[in-house]
Amino acid sequence: MQSKREEITPEGLYFSRRKFLKLAGLVGVSAALAACGIKPTPTPEAVPLSTLQTVSSNSLMNGDTLTPYDTITNYNNFYEFSLSKEDVAEKAQNFVSHPWTISVEGLVERPMQISIDELLQQYPLEERIYRMRCVEGWSMVIPWAGFPVYKLLKDVKVKDTARFVRFATQYNHDLFPNQGSFGFAWPYTEGLRLDEANHDLTILAVGLYNKVLPAQDGAPIRLVVPWKYGFKSVKSISKIELVEEQPQTFWNEAVFNEYGFYANVNPNVPHPRWSQESERRLGEAERRPTELFNGYTEVAPLYEGMDLTVDF
Ligand code: MTE
Repeated sequence: MQSKREEITPEGLYFSRRKFLKLAGLVGVSAALAACGIKPTPTPEAVPLSTLQTVSSNSLMNGDTLTPYDTITNYNNFYEFSLSKEDVAEKAQNFVSHPWTISVEGLVERPMQISIDELLQQYPLEERIYRMRCVEGWSMVIPWAGFPVYKLLKDVKVKDTARFVRFATQYNHDLFPNQGSFGFAWPYTEGLRLDEANHDLTILAVGLYNKVLPAQDGAPIRLVVPWKYGFKSVKSISKIELVEEQPQTFWNEAVFNEYGFYANVNPNVPHPRWSQESERRLGEAERRPTELFNGYTEVAPLYEGMDLTVDF
């Protein structure tokens, strides 16, 4: 991403077998054991996937069709595994995303340490069909399963002094072989202004196409902010921190004049090395015009009075 715009080659995509965790099943088992006062035993080996239950769904936006599952899961940016989009799925196939704990800390009244199983029990999943626009100029339409970040933030009681939310991928070289390489400031971190994080469109996703999130898409839990370029949507999160100052972010630290903090999709603000006026929807032959805020114009009030052309 940092050195050149890559060609998009949806042709020749392949589907490789991966191990998934049967999260829904594990939740049931842990809950039953806990009710009997028995401490759950360590997680058994990963077992084949069952479906995730979602309680509601939004609809496709005008002119959109869902990007096929195989495309979404075989064309990925996940530098912890590979710099090439085409082999992330293969390189991540043995990734172990269970057990997994997320901590919510910093400027909060009630810091939280929660396992992914408990999280799934606590927050009902919604299907959110969102456009995903990468800063490189390609896009997809993905049916995520997740829940709004504001629900989690409400439960930890954010202090008045907090103004930003910082999200970080777990730092663990055994899990993520490329961490520590290429001169990047690992772990991958991203940030949002508190009001952006509290917007109903901002979700933590744990699945797609009603299936548990595959490793290459950010298992077991990732951020999704559909009106921003995809690099804001940090994968495999283990820490969420409420802070006062605007946090440093992975790509901004790497190339400060190319990847801004806000990174709102905007056809009128070119990347320093290419135009953002149009995009290539994976699976479509013709490029299509890029829309301001990726079409999610309801977020415009968040930026009232801000000069949207300045983000570097
Ligand atoms: N999160 C982590 N931890 N590591 C990454 O390399 N890449 C980002 C983002 N989140 C990345 C990440 C980029 S550049 C994009 S475009 C999206 O993930 C890609 O998400 P996808 O592979 O599910 O399409």
